[in-house]
Amino acid sequence: MGHGTSSFQPKNKTVRWIDSRLPIFSLMNEQAVDFPTPKNLNYMWTFGAILVLMLVTMIVSGITLAMHYAANAEIAFERVEHIMRDVNFGWLLRYIHAVGASMFFIAVYLHIARGLYYGSYKAPREILWMLGVVILILMMATAFMGYVLPWGQMSFWGATVITNLFSAIPFVGPSITEWLWGGFAVDNATLNRFFALHYLLPFMIAGVVILHIWALHVSGNNNPTGVSVKSSKDTVPFHPYITIKDMFAVVVFLLLYGWFVFYVPNYLGHPDNYIPANPLVTPAHIVPEWYLLPFYAILRAVPDKLGGVILMFGSLLILFLVPWLDTSRVRSARYRPMFRWAFWGFVFSCVALGYLGAMPAEGIYVTLARIFTIYYFAFFIILMPLLGLIERTKPVPNSIAESVLDKDDGLPDPQEQTWIWGGNRPRSPRLPRLGGRATLPGGSGRPDAAPAAPRKD
Ligand code: HEM
Repeated sequence: MGHGTSSFQPKNKTVRWIDSRLPIFSLMNEQAVDFPTPKNLNYMWTFGAILVLMLVTMIVSGITLAMHYAANAEIAFERVEHIMRDVNFGWLLRYIHAVGASMFFIAVYLHIARGLYYGSYKAPREILWMLGVVILILMMATAFMGYVLPWGQMSFWGATVITNLFSAIPFVGPSITEWLWGGFAVDNATLNRFFALHYLLPFMIAGVVILHIWALHVSGNNNPTGVSVKSSKDTVPFHPYITIKDMFAVVVFLLLYGWFVFYVPNYLGHPDNYIPANPLVTPAHIVPEWYLLPFYAILRAVPDKLGGVILMFGSLLILFLVPWLDTSRVRSARYRPMFRWAFWGFVFSCVALGYLGAMPAEGIYVTLARIFTIYYFAFFIILMPLLGLIERTKPVPNSIAESVLDKDDGLPDPQEQTWIWGGNRPRSPRLPRLGGRATLPGGSGRPDAAPAAPRKD
């Protein structure tokens, strides 16, 4: 990150005074203003910013909820109802937090899918990716423990099912489980420690996110071509080009988030969690929140308890190995026709496992869950290493600039486009086409293009 050696000279005297003693403004300028960013990033690259926003939203709304909540099994359920009914805008706070968890996972799954599709996990971004996997695991643990806090039926029984998994560990399993519970069942002690950890983990996530972004700023962004940045022609400054795009995406994301919060706040939750926890009544179907369903389906696809637990945790841990499992020299799936199929098959399997996780663990549902579990693991263990060796990739552009200039994207001809990248940039010569439509004589390669008119500005 910044070493205080940048040529940045703050205009304001006070800022300059501080910066010469603690170059924090230089650092910010270097990392968030001037930072060279590939000019071809698409909207899949806006989820990082959305995730940062979600993390902050969850921490702020969570701390405020904690001011009115009590982690006591006798009154926890009523405290949540008190927040909903008596606390000023308590209902809004709670829905922002509860729906926020789902929105956070929507964003993180898209962020991960982007990484898988464009090969963002490949060298030199292995540590960046692995830090992401650590964040994902911490997020799941945090969400799981948060769901226990309202002390409804699903809170209690979800906690019972998941903590019981540890009892499958040979010899020490039952002792570990009792140690986790702080007793002989999920009870007050369990609720208390889950609250303590649910409060702690988001700050650990924030710490890992800082490392994640640090690692990102060492290697720089990947981009849709997967081709590394070669020169300044390939990049634009982070501000205002990326900041404005991120802000636009954030607004669109907030519209969806707001729609859930204000119109269907309980849509993504389970109605049984509005029944107070009752250790004497087991719900007909115990299901986790939607974002954990694929992993729950993997757990139940295996007839043996320990085997199920190993596969479920294995399905997450295998993500750590992805940078080494993929043997392809080409990063982006854009140029990998076979991998692209394998990738969409993987996405389909995850969605299918999500559906199956919500269905009863019997008959056809279990059979299908087994098939998709096999595909889930085969994608990583068989397809990733194999396709890298046998696949014939499409021609990869020499540089990001070349791929951007060559693309017939319906925009005005790049030669007329200097106003987008800044008026005083040197005009790049038109590169020869690698394919697609033939260039019309004297034209821009687009039959419908009007002759270039000189811009007045
Ligand atoms: C709280 C959760 C997370 C936050 C706040 C976060 C934040 C960010 C940000 C700000 C970026 C740069 C912008 C972008 O590429 O979208 C980024 C990039 C990246 N993240 Fe995350 N991230 C999170 C979780 C994850 C997870 C779970 C993974 C993978 C398992 C991951 C893998 C990556 C990778 C590989 C990149 C580099 C992408 C590229 O340059 O092409 N992140 N992250």
